[in-house]
Amino acid sequence: MTEVVPPLGLQKIMGVAAISPSISRVGNRVLGGKDNYLADQDLVIELEKSAPGQYAAAWASREFQQRVLRYLAGTVGVRQFLDLGAGLPVPEARRVNTHQIVNFARGIPEADRPIVVYVDNDPICVAHGRALLATNEQSHYLLGDLTDPNLLHDPAVSTYLDLECPVGVLLCGVMHHVDENLDPAGIVHGWIEVLPPGSFLVLTHLFDPGPNNCLHEYAVSCQARYLEALGSGWFRTREQIAGFFDSLRMVTPGLVRPGDWWPGGPSLRPGSVAERLLLAGVGWKPRDPADVTRGPNRLAYNLAHPCCCAGSHRLLTGKASSRSARIDRPA
Ligand SMILES: C[S@@+](CC[C@H](N)C(=O)[O-])C[C@H]1O[C@@H](n2cnc3c(N)ncnc32)[C@H](O)[C@@H]1O
Repeated sequence: MTEVVPPLGLQKIMGVAAISPSISRVGNRVLGGKDNYLADQDLVIELEKSAPGQYAAAWASREFQQRVLRYLAGTVGVRQFLDLGAGLPVPEARRVNTHQIVNFARGIPEADRPIVVYVDNDPICVAHGRALLATNEQSHYLLGDLTDPNLLHDPAVSTYLDLECPVGVLLCGVMHHVDENLDPAGIVHGWIEVLPPGSFLVLTHLFDPGPNNCLHEYAVSCQARYLEALGSGWFRTREQIAGFFDSLRMVTPGLVRPGDWWPGGPSLRPGSVAERLLLAGVGWKPRDPADVTRGPNRLAYNLAHPCCCAGSHRLLTGKASSRSARIDRPA
């Protein structure tokens, strides 16, 4: 058999096997997308051996986002969202991409549909996102790096947002890909500082419950695989993750497993290992710092944010790390 000689200058025929896994393609794989390669699929198999239940964890996290976004768009009345580290779109038929969730939240008239700005630093995500949003004037997909909070004032972003009004900012499944050397907590605090008062921060993060917990070994093993394959994927402690929300009021029930944030009812199963290695929370930036301890005031919120038709809030007083925080009920 004669050997096929590649054309001059072509050293090797590139195939899917030559591609290394990427953060966004692995995320796409666990959410049932088709925009991933063998290397991504192999990594998910490896992660599954380290911490079983990767698919369930990815969906628990996405369903958390779904409940939060319905609450923010439908109940609170937030009309603009910034999804940082948005990833590859989930197949449209699942209807769980941010713009799909907020557009169809209960009680939103078609003329009042929220603006959604997606940002990712992976050009493949941007290309796929733009293709999906080609006919959607309310949603935009931008290339950008979330480690610089001044991105909010970059005309490429700010042109779509009204920075006098609250923004719902999502940092889901991404801050654990930011190296400690870059000061991830400082980056999140930077975002909180530049956001308009009344804004919300929605965050999910890989969680290491510590050496005295039976799940610790899973976290250590899973983190080792992430770092080896992707160069990032740090499991952080509850205190570290809670620290991201400093200066914000936590929306009840605080910092919990994604499936425990306003679930539809008691859980019917204990949750996979991978699900228990995630924490999720929502924080609210009050109008003035005193509001952090004073308690929510629905009327004041309405007056302060006329662009939001604020509904009932249930906010925890105190920091995310305080499990015994008092729960304020709306008047
Ligand atoms: C695991 S995916 C999460 C996708 C989606 N947010 C979710 O929760 O399903 C993480 C995404 O963050 C993006 N990312 C990582 N570092 C980033 C950075 N510094 N700036 C912007 N995007 C980043 C990756 O490209 C990837 O698409």
